[in-house]
Amino acid sequence: MIVTTYDDKLSMYITQSFAGEDVALQQIRRQIEARGMPAITVRPEEGKFLQVLVAACQPKLALEIGTLGGYSGTWIARGLPSGGRLITLELEPERATIAGEHFRLAGVGGRVEIRVGDAHGLLPALSDEGPFDFVFIDAEKEGYPAYLEWTVANLRSGGVLAAHNAFRRGAIIEPDEWDSAVMATREFNQRVAQDPRLLATIFPAGDGMVIAVRVD
Ligand code: DHB
Ligand code: MG
Repeated sequence: MIVTTYDDKLSMYITQSFAGEDVALQQIRRQIEARGMPAITVRPEEGKFLQVLVAACQPKLALEIGTLGGYSGTWIARGLPSGGRLITLELEPERATIAGEHFRLAGVGGRVEIRVGDAHGLLPALSDEGPFDFVFIDAEKEGYPAYLEWTVANLRSGGVLAAHNAFRRGAIIEPDEWDSAVMATREFNQRVAQDPRLLATIFPAGDGMVIAVRVD
């Protein structure tokens, strides 16, 4: 019997010992709720994971699909090497405005560029600015399969893909869960796992983070 040690208490341990938020990140998290955005940002533990991943792969050009209030983008931007840039895509103009304030608050405003619009519409033109070294997907789950297709085509060899909510709060393995977000996440995870261009797994912190490296 293989025993899994990880649980909520150990998650808290990781957060407390490795993923403490500075004042800016605390404020961003609070503002996201106070200004009426859903409290669905990545957990500190996941944010720190993204920052470490980014610092390890040293992207000159990173992309985030789904800015929300700029919380995950702040963690990502703080992992960038000097001269590195993050482009982040947000559907809702009001959210983009707030996220811009948050990036400045966190001291990363100069490295982050927010583009407003439906990512499915913005991505085709973004291909001309690539290839990208790091892509983080955290938008509507129904879009994940299409985002994956674009990402693999626009990620440089050796580049890294991360995607939030691989577990959908556990629904991913529940046979009676058939809602469109869960179905799309299942399709996304399966495609990532089977794509010969990717070396991939799920890092099980928080709601599950798909991570993949383009290996072809
Ligand atoms: C939910 C959580 C997320 O992190 C996300 O990106 C989308 C939705 C949710 O819990 O509904
Ligand atoms: Mg998410």
